[in-house]
Amino acid sequence: MTMRTVPDFARMKAEGRRIASLTAYDFPTALLEQEAGIDFILVGDSIAMAVLGEETTLGATVEMMLPHVKAVRRGAPGTFVVADMPFGSYQASDERAVDSAVRFVAEGGADAVKLEGGSPMPLSRAAAIIASGIPVMGHVGLLPQSVRASGGYRAVGADQAGRVMSEARALEDAGAFALVLESVEEAIARDVTGALSIPTIGIGAGRFTDGQILVVNDMLGITRGFEPRFLKRYADVGAGITRALSDYAGEVRNGSFPEARHAYAPLREPGK
Ligand code: KIV
Repeated sequence: MTMRTVPDFARMKAEGRRIASLTAYDFPTALLEQEAGIDFILVGDSIAMAVLGEETTLGATVEMMLPHVKAVRRGAPGTFVVADMPFGSYQASDERAVDSAVRFVAEGGADAVKLEGGSPMPLSRAAAIIASGIPVMGHVGLLPQSVRASGGYRAVGADQAGRVMSEARALEDAGAFALVLESVEEAIARDVTGALSIPTIGIGAGRFTDGQILVVNDMLGITRGFEPRFLKRYADVGAGITRALSDYAGEVRNGSFPEARHAYAPLREPGK
């Protein structure tokens, strides 16, 4: 598969072809996602939770995410890579936002960046980044970086449909090339998807978005104890890993690993 470009995503929507995307945070996972033909990879600030075990995404920083963006780029050189702008990397000013986005593209090798929200502040940041030549993916609905203000990870209901729609339209007008819709009721996602010409990418947004994204550790069953309604586990990799690790520990303890075939110039054991 050839690498997708920004115009390809618009074309996919126009042609009714759905976009399949996942997060990735490291080289080997990116490599596997590219082999699987994933349309774009997001190096999400969810790294703080999925990889570092933090309670929120708020601890992610540009400095800590950059090596992961580079690793994903190396693992998936032929896949469109979006770097998530972490909390604190764009809020202060348009200049700060452009500087952070430039680092993700110039140092990290990302093709685009994503930032959260459709209020005047993120709209201004998105427009400034786009004016600098970097494609921006928007993100509306549940905003994990605003969890302190919103009071928790709650799905966005019909009472906020108008706000979600107007923020989505504003991001499209500002030049965003795609839009993540996170944890919004299905009817809101359907209406926003129908109203925009840029593709919508849903996570917990139901069946009628132009594409879907999941956190790779969650859908592979690596994450423990996270069972939101929207999540489908496509594998139980965590159980497979635990089984392999305890088999290894058992064999080391009972002496059955390593065997002679694992040794360099193995010694002949007496009587064998
Ligand atoms: O950080 C992330 O993984 C995200 C997805 C939930 C879209 O923003």
